[in-house]
Amino acid sequence: MLTPTLFSLFFAVFIQPSIEFARADVLPFTSYANDFVDPTYIAAGNFVNTSGEAQKNIIAWAEHLSASGPWSVTTKPIAAPSKDKHDYMSWAPYWWPNCTGVGNTTELTPQQIWVTCPYVNRDGQFNPDRLTINDIGGFFNLSDAVLYNALAFSFENKTSSIYSQNIVKFIDAWFLNNNTYMNPNLNYAQMERGPNGQVGTHTGVLDLKGMVKIVSGILILRKRNCTDWTTEIDTQLNAWTTKYITWLETNKLGTDECASLNNHGSFCFNQLAALKLLVNDVPGSVNTSNTFFHGIYQGQINSTGDQPFEASRTHPYHYRNYNLGAMITNARLLKYADPTSNPWNITTKDGTTIQDALNMVMTVDPNKSGEGDAVAEIYPNIAAVASEYGDPTGKYVAFLNKGFPEYPSDADFLWDQPLAGGSVESSASDPKTGTGSPGKSAATTLQKDSRTLLPAIGAALLMGVVAGW
Ligand SMILES: *[C@@H]1O[C@H](CO)[C@@H](O)[C@H](O)[C@H]1NC(C)=O
Ligand SMILES: *[C@@H]1O[C@H](CO)[C@@H](O)[C@H](O)[C@H]1NC(C)=O
Ligand SMILES: *[C@@H]1O[C@H](CO)[C@@H](O)[C@H](O)[C@H]1NC(C)=O
Ligand SMILES: *[C@@H]1O[C@H](CO)[C@@H](O)[C@H](O)[C@H]1NC(C)=O
Ligand SMILES: *[C@@H]1O[C@H](CO)[C@@H](O)[C@H](O)[C@H]1NC(C)=O
Ligand SMILES: *[C@@H]1O[C@H](CO)[C@@H](O)[C@H](O)[C@H]1NC(C)=O
Ligand SMILES: *[C@@H]1O[C@H](CO)[C@@H](O)[C@H](O)[C@H]1NC(C)=O
Ligand SMILES: *[C@@H]1O[C@H](CO)[C@@H](O)[C@H](O)[C@H]1NC(C)=O
Ligand SMILES: *[C@@H]1O[C@H](CO)[C@@H](O)[C@H](O)[C@H]1NC(C)=O
Ligand SMILES: *[C@@H]1O[C@H](CO)[C@@H](O)[C@H](O)[C@H]1NC(C)=O
Ligand SMILES: *[C@@H]1O[C@H](CO)[C@@H](O)[C@H](O)[C@H]1NC(C)=O
Repeated sequence: MLTPTLFSLFFAVFIQPSIEFARADVLPFTSYANDFVDPTYIAAGNFVNTSGEAQKNIIAWAEHLSASGPWSVTTKPIAAPSKDKHDYMSWAPYWWPNCTGVGNTTELTPQQIWVTCPYVNRDGQFNPDRLTINDIGGFFNLSDAVLYNALAFSFENKTSSIYSQNIVKFIDAWFLNNNTYMNPNLNYAQMERGPNGQVGTHTGVLDLKGMVKIVSGILILRKRNCTDWTTEIDTQLNAWTTKYITWLETNKLGTDECASLNNHGSFCFNQLAALKLLVNDVPGSVNTSNTFFHGIYQGQINSTGDQPFEASRTHPYHYRNYNLGAMITNARLLKYADPTSNPWNITTKDGTTIQDALNMVMTVDPNKSGEGDAVAEIYPNIAAVASEYGDPTGKYVAFLNKGFPEYPSDADFLWDQPLAGGSVESSASDPKTGTGSPGKSAATTLQKDSRTLLPAIGAALLMGVVAGW
């Protein structure tokens, strides 16, 4: 399981977080490892009146992310080995060419190196050329942009807005437009190079885990009867998704990934369960989530609440939180697809739950494994667990207040409810209904009632963005 490429994904690709964006009045953008935001809850708009800051950040992030879109796999400078520019591609980032024995007499061009020289793993060391192609960075931005634009759209009592129009533009460019669409497969994801390479690896399926965020966003548009989200685009995206689901469930790369015992398997189920919701296959989604909870989940949390498949990694603090994010997302997907289900108290074979796993991670000092910068990764998991299991003793809120007192300004404070905290009330929207318009007015009044971020926390969150990938 613990192949080097698995963990190459840790720091695989990273979109330089934009430091300028970390202005004192806006939390630095956080890309959660994954999440499923209940579209019914968002569409109803009954947000707590302490979520004004979270809403402002969501709007600011939606606008910030949108500025770099639309994205398409066809813009990369190098096509996949299929020569089809519509094929998604990413390179395994810790693999380096060794041209020692190939017998060339003159210097090889990069293109010759990619196919001629054997590639060897140097774990933890990035090959600097890994960002020559950045389909993964484009997809990460796309998935966050769709989620945050859908949330920003929901804050307005409208059937069309700049935010929903952004989503249509982005979905069209990545999935549908005849010139720029992506083929519905991941045959060249986390590809190894060299004479024996040129094919994808199953770990590359993780690249598209953000499909869950996209599905959350589209379901919000549907629930709010968005007029920009036409029957035509809905039908086309469903057709694409149906083909991609078939690839995931029948291609060996997809089936191997969902059979992985660790976070890779958990995130693979995230994708499948969410995509089945998108194509209105609710029984199929329930089935997929149940397959997770009665399958690999059973071995993921032991009796002491630790996650053995993540604990053995070089970055155990990151990986424990990473898999927690995936397990939480699977629970949210199942609860949404089958409201009679109780994913939060499904126990593993050792009798433990997602809450036990979080409680265990809360006792871990990230500095012990040299992961002080990854501490920010636990906060979204704490907020999620506190909102689902309750916080009768206040220990979750105490932990958040200690390390991340700005947590009520973070986007997930909007949907991780009930959760204590938040003193800044939204003035621009009717908090009860969420139907006012914090949109433009909030964006222009950001300076007013917000607080200054400690630089250290800003840095930690930015690291969280990176590590979360
Ligand atoms: C916010 O909601 C709480 C209860 O949910 C209520 O006690 C408080 O008065 C509300 N504040 C405003 C400004 O509406
Ligand atoms: C590089 O290739 C040479 C020649 O094939 C081989 O002797 C050497 O061990 C390789 N180096 C690594 C790090 O694999
Ligand atoms: C073979 O190609 C590699 C990569 O371009 C280069 O570093 C090396 O110097 C070349 N060998 C010779 C003898 O030119
Ligand atoms: C993704 O968005 C960030 C801003 O958050 C930007 O700096 C980066 O260039 C974008 N990357 C791509 C591939 O669009
Ligand atoms: C939302 O818009 C609809 C249709 O324009 C209107 O009937 C309704 O009163 C509005 N709701 C609020 C809370 O403003
Ligand atoms: C899409 O592009 C292909 C090849 O570029 C072309 O043959 C086909 O007619 C186009 N389809 C549409 C609907 O434009
Ligand atoms: C969307 O349309 C449906 C069916 O016409 C209606 O029942 C529902 O109330 C509408 N939702 C919103 C948020 O307007
Ligand atoms: C549930 O999944 C199993 C395989 O895991 C499959 O055989 C069965 O047809 C699925 N049922 C539904 C309703 O999708
Ligand atoms: C749980 O897993 C951790 C990490 O692999 C291990 O150190 C611990 O001993 C395990 N606990 C039990 C009771 O097996
Ligand atoms: C899970 O929770 C539900 C209701 O919240 C309860 O009926 C059920 O007994 C619980 N199951 C376990 C195993 O604790
Ligand atoms: C980790 O180390 C940093 C800097 O050395 C320190 O500020 C932080 O409190 C430490 N974290 C824990 C949980 O001890």
